[in-house]
Amino acid sequence: MKKLIVGNFKMNTVPSEFKAYAMSLATKTQNSKNDIVVCPPFTHLAVAREFLGGSRVEVGAQNISEEESGAFTGEISAKMIKDAGANYVIIGHSERRSKFKETDKLINKKIKTALASGLKVILCVGESLQTRQNKQTCAFVRKQIDDDLKGIYENELESVIVAYEPIWAIGTGKVATKSDIAKMVEIIRKEIALQYSEKAGNSIKVLYGGSININNYAKIISNPALDGALIGGACLDVDNFAVICRENY
Ligand code: PGA
Repeated sequence: MKKLIVGNFKMNTVPSEFKAYAMSLATKTQNSKNDIVVCPPFTHLAVAREFLGGSRVEVGAQNISEEESGAFTGEISAKMIKDAGANYVIIGHSERRSKFKETDKLINKKIKTALASGLKVILCVGESLQTRQNKQTCAFVRKQIDDDLKGIYENELESVIVAYEPIWAIGTGKVATKSDIAKMVEIIRKEIALQYSEKAGNSIKVLYGGSININNYAKIISNPALDGALIGGACLDVDNFAVICRENY
């Protein structure tokens, strides 16, 4: 089954290192049947366009401003990343929610700005360990979906991908179980079906992210409930990431 494999570089590498990475990834994934997206830092986008252009690998950014343009020193807009060659943007990653205090309201605004600029959005949702221990995971994730997608039209959901990333699994080596993942994907689909339609619930793409690595990737990503994966740490090694991108799931 064809999957969507997304690599999130976070704040790692410098543009000159990324050039070698991009050239290598483009070559190594030539025959992949999966859809592949890499999301490097903003400073790498020009290099990404130059060395991934014409390859099987599409490019995304890890964040955008909620504002379109103007006096917002230091910010980067949706239009800027689109013009720089990005087709995707990650919005609402848990590191932005927790370390940069991004609220669902702000995330909702960012999603609208991204969609208006023609970007595809990878919306991250997922619960903390405490929420999980309090058995509030389902309610928490459903509310994230509701708040983050408020006011977004059903036809726009074609450009929205939901990544379920339990916070306790990100960068920790702990992975959600196959049944946990299947259950959460179902919750996400049901919530979309409730807010929009059965069709929308069935057709929205749902990814899993959190401690996927070269040893566990095949088992996780081949889960038929999933449309693909969001990969942090393990995407930094181009050989490993290319193996994950080339797999026949
Ligand atoms: P990880 O990160 O694969 O390093 O756990 C995933 C993510 O934060 O998107």
